[in-house]
Amino acid sequence: MHITVIGSGYVGTTIAACFADLGHDVTAIDIDEEIVETLNDGQSPISEPGLEDLLETHAGNRLEATTSYDAVPESDVTFLAIGTPSNDDGSIDLGALEAAAEATGEAVADKDERHLVVIKSTVTPPSIETVLEPAVHRGADGNENIEVGMNPEFLREGSAVSDFLSPDKLVFGASSEWGTNRLHAVFEPLLEDHDAHVVETDPQTASMIKYANNAFLASKISLVNDLGNICKEFGLDAYEVMEAIGLDDRISEQFLRSGVGWGGSCFPKDVNAIIAAAREEDYDPAVLEATVEVNDRQPERMLELLEDHVDLEGARIAVLGLAFKPQTDDIRNSRAIPMIELLKERGSEIVAYDPVAVEPMQERFPDIEYAASAADALDGADGTVVVTDWDEFATLDEEFDTMATPVVVDGRRIIEPRDGITYEGLTW
Ligand code: UDX
Repeated sequence: MHITVIGSGYVGTTIAACFADLGHDVTAIDIDEEIVETLNDGQSPISEPGLEDLLETHAGNRLEATTSYDAVPESDVTFLAIGTPSNDDGSIDLGALEAAAEATGEAVADKDERHLVVIKSTVTPPSIETVLEPAVHRGADGNENIEVGMNPEFLREGSAVSDFLSPDKLVFGASSEWGTNRLHAVFEPLLEDHDAHVVETDPQTASMIKYANNAFLASKISLVNDLGNICKEFGLDAYEVMEAIGLDDRISEQFLRSGVGWGGSCFPKDVNAIIAAAREEDYDPAVLEATVEVNDRQPERMLELLEDHVDLEGARIAVLGLAFKPQTDDIRNSRAIPMIELLKERGSEIVAYDPVAVEPMQERFPDIEYAASAADALDGADGTVVVTDWDEFATLDEEFDTMATPVVVDGRRIIEPRDGITYEGLTW
């Protein structure tokens, strides 16, 4: 098949490279000439394991990048993978996606065969009918050959390529049998080798599945953090409790790690967007609101634990970990951001370290100190907060002996407590 992918951001680049790897001819379309050039050179605009290899193999062969929409009408299906950032009130900003949807419609306005436009971006269910379908049809000037479908993406940063190539499930949201069949044809090479569940549904339900999935996982972590905070108050170990409840198949052992909370580009954006969309319908989603509230509280709780041992005014505090999770330099909604803000409010002198995410954080907080290693950050510090569970933090040991006062508050259960350090786990 010939597939056009509009948008070469995180999701767009990954799916374009993976579709090429499945054997399709792919045209990746982006307005950013620099990204187009990077892709055509076989390089990756983002850091993601396995992605550069795929681009190197397929660029110039099955994968071509361009700024022009000319290939759209010649293709069999078009995927829209444009970012949907948050407005200030948490609601979804569809501006860029709506413009791309209309431009895609314009490109296929004269097409005589049927054409499927698939939304890959995460969009709220009502916006499919009220904003995106109208945008495509407006662009296509009412051409009845054009159908809009929805195929949400569940890939995680750091394992995006393998998540795409071996998914648990594929969700096909289409409004006709033809649309469903076309999505089957796109994923057929993957399904030949891989036994994934295929969910066939309508576009709005497909979009709700994505929100429910992310909201469920974010809420699971917040619930675990709520229970973990209670464990800590009782002097109990939340990890021992969660290991036991994880034995129940209905709960599963995954996503039970309590700590400083969830961040990243998806959970915060999607939970806030579905809350805002629910409020639009005059429904207050109490559990989801609490999910966000518990997440917002965890960095503050860490500092309260630190304050039991150190007066934060003027104290030198090492922040270990800036990325929102290990194996990425992404700091979007990282818990390190509220942590640094809270420490600044308390008048602490901050020294931060991360194996890969120092540069983006320097842009955000140019006025704090950054260390070249965890050891340097700890040297002379009055206390430390561990925010990201990088493996290298697990091997820290005598580095703690160089601290002025060796107080460690661990937000990810990554440090081994031992004699000679004052250790506080956030929920254990
Ligand atoms: C997530 C979803 O997993 C993915 O399906 C969706 O497409 C995009 O959002 P991602 O943001 O890459 O993926 O990260 P993920 O690995 O899910 O972790 C999210 C956050 O939860 C991280 O900040 C992580 O530290 C935190 N987390 C995860 C916990 O605090 N405890 C856990 O047990 C698991």
